[in-house]
Amino acid sequence: MRIPNFQMERMQSTWENLVEFDMSESGVRPMTLRGLVEMGLGLDNALDMPLGYSQSNGTLPLRERLAAIYPGSTVDHIEVTNGTSEANYLVALSLLEPGDEMAMEIPNYMQLWGVPQSLQASVRTFRLRPECNWEPDWDEFERAVNPRTRLLYLSNPNNPSGAVLSDEAMRRIVRRCEETNTTLLADEVYLGAELEGERTKSFWGMSEKVVVTSGLSKAYGIPGVRIGWMIGPRSLVATCWSQHDYLTIGPNKLSDMVARVAVAPANREKLYARTRAILSDNLPIIAGWAAGFGDLLEFNQPRAGAMTLVRYRSSIPSIDLCERIRTEQSTLVVPGSHVGLEGYLRIWYGGRPEYITEGLRRIGVVLRGVRST
Ligand SMILES: Cc1ncc(COP(=O)(O)O)c(C=O)c1O
Repeated sequence: MRIPNFQMERMQSTWENLVEFDMSESGVRPMTLRGLVEMGLGLDNALDMPLGYSQSNGTLPLRERLAAIYPGSTVDHIEVTNGTSEANYLVALSLLEPGDEMAMEIPNYMQLWGVPQSLQASVRTFRLRPECNWEPDWDEFERAVNPRTRLLYLSNPNNPSGAVLSDEAMRRIVRRCEETNTTLLADEVYLGAELEGERTKSFWGMSEKVVVTSGLSKAYGIPGVRIGWMIGPRSLVATCWSQHDYLTIGPNKLSDMVARVAVAPANREKLYARTRAILSDNLPIIAGWAAGFGDLLEFNQPRAGAMTLVRYRSSIPSIDLCERIRTEQSTLVVPGSHVGLEGYLRIWYGGRPEYITEGLRRIGVVLRGVRST
């Protein structure tokens, strides 16, 4: 099996714990166990809990709480996984065969760029257009999603642009999937991380062709427990569960317990509110910083998520620019080319204000030495 490097994750795994400032993150600063205890996590019970295997597709109480979030679903529509990434992986493993085609929007989280290639499927892309509020280029979309397409992957809210699809765009995407008999994999891990305005609508329930993935890592602010889930047609979820048996069997028991607390309705709202407060407090810091560069930088206001895309007007490739920022300033930033969009930097703003301020200052030192074109 030949699998291309997942460039962004590889760069992060290599450097994130070695640099002084990691500005390559994409979630808000994480919750602590103490914070979760304050929300009802019974740590004392955990001390006596036998650390055996957990229910491999997620405990019934957890799947019941998740089912309550997605109207019309039951526990059999849901599978709990080790992070959203495992849910995405299982869907691709279950659906794609050698010679199949899949489609994905660009820019994006590039997991489902590499995985299909390892399954000998080919990937067709279509662009989200910054000049049109990051709506898809519909001509490219219709070429990419065609009767040969087995699977379409998108992230909404989108990583890295922070854009949210309009209702009309969502309907158009679903219509096309139905016409072409394509399964839509909607990764909604940033749903709930909106800065303001209404909550992002879920694709769940729009069609039998939809499978949604999500997890605790972003909007909930709890990436370290590695809990994600998928919600989709029963038969697809059943196949994914079979794949899961071969892969990791199931998520760990302590994490399932944490997840039951996090997704309880009142706690979910509290966690979303915490995320929103962190993002709203920090956005002016990064917006103000970008404005200080005049024409060199173009700031892109996200609607959701803890990262922004900043376009820079210089011919230096984004990988080279980020390499300079890392080596000269011990600061890690995601180059646009790692998310499918050259000429941009993806910069995190979900941390403590003083951390973000210093990380940005360091990025700025290198940017000021870059010649504008
Ligand atoms: C769109 C998207 N999906 C999935 C993931 C991975 O999520 P998890 O940590 O839940 O596996 C990320 C991480 O950045 C992401 O941005």
